[in-house]
Amino acid sequence: MKNIYSNIYTFNKKTLKKTIKYLIHNNIVGLPTETVYGLAGNAYSIKAVKKIFRLKSRPKRNPLIVHYKNMEIAERDVIFNENFFKLYRKLCPGPITFILNKKDGSKISALATANLNTVAIRFPSHKVVRSILKFLNFPLAMPSANLSSGLSPTNAFDVYEEFKKKLKIIINGGNSRIGIESTVVDLTNEPKILRPGIISSSDIRKILNSKLSKKRSNIKSPGMLKKHYSPGIPVVIGKKPKSISHAYIVFGKNFKDLKNYFNLSKKADLKEAASNLYKIMRKIKKKGYKKIYVSSIPNYGPGIAINDRLLRASK
Ligand code: TXA
Ligand code: MG
Repeated sequence: MKNIYSNIYTFNKKTLKKTIKYLIHNNIVGLPTETVYGLAGNAYSIKAVKKIFRLKSRPKRNPLIVHYKNMEIAERDVIFNENFFKLYRKLCPGPITFILNKKDGSKISALATANLNTVAIRFPSHKVVRSILKFLNFPLAMPSANLSSGLSPTNAFDVYEEFKKKLKIIINGGNSRIGIESTVVDLTNEPKILRPGIISSSDIRKILNSKLSKKRSNIKSPGMLKKHYSPGIPVVIGKKPKSISHAYIVFGKNFKDLKNYFNLSKKADLKEAASNLYKIMRKIKKKGYKKIYVSSIPNYGPGIAINDRLLRASK
């Protein structure tokens, strides 16, 4: 039988070498990170960045996150500040993205930042992407590896489902531990969360020892389109389905084990729920359900990020 997944590779010395060569030639690969899988390409190459936008059908006004091995390398492209240093020291490498001002002379392709004078930078902790970054003399532009406005993939097979053989290399790095995208925090002014994630605003507030801005940001985060994270079928929040042909996403122990019930976390653990969210929505879609209902999810800590994604999925 032909192996349909022939573009999914296990990570070893040989596939590392192949991936590096491929990236150096401005091609795009699917890579695991601790949050979700990404579509990676040379952030300094307009050719590579164009390919990323084309593959995802992503609107050109929506900038990409640029991924680095460490702070020393990122310093070529962005202007650091005190808040950045504090958060970097405590949280990196890890699931957080910082918006900083771009440095004059930065080689990041203007297309990657949608012509903004700010850059989103992240230091992923997943060992696969870290070992790849070690061998490159450029950072990786890497949006989530899904078609624009869909659900982010949390394993190599989800990436395959999105792009099939349009990607020549997808590295299998297991299930993404966190399962939702990184927290995005704007540090160009008063710190402000642009996209909630597993690192919560209270975590950030404690580290910075200051309040976060609630003002509407004057910097554009064009990626925060209202309709986003869509499983491709309607999502209704806070209601129970009336028919067993509709799926019900629930949270906690007070729910029966019915066939159309999908529990994000039986033990009511919000981190576990976040890591199951996209996986479960993809499963529901695959099983052929036509609609998803969602019971209420507590709105604190990682629950804020879960509710943010569900709300956008319901638009
Ligand atoms: O966890 C993650 O962050 C994943 C993994 C692969 O690293 N990446 C990811 O990328 O989620 P993407 O492209 O799906 O989301 C990037 C978000 C978008 O909402 C985008 O608008 C925002 O970051 N962003 C990027 N550059 C920005 C900038 N200069 N100013 C404001 N927002 C920016
Ligand atoms: Mg995305």
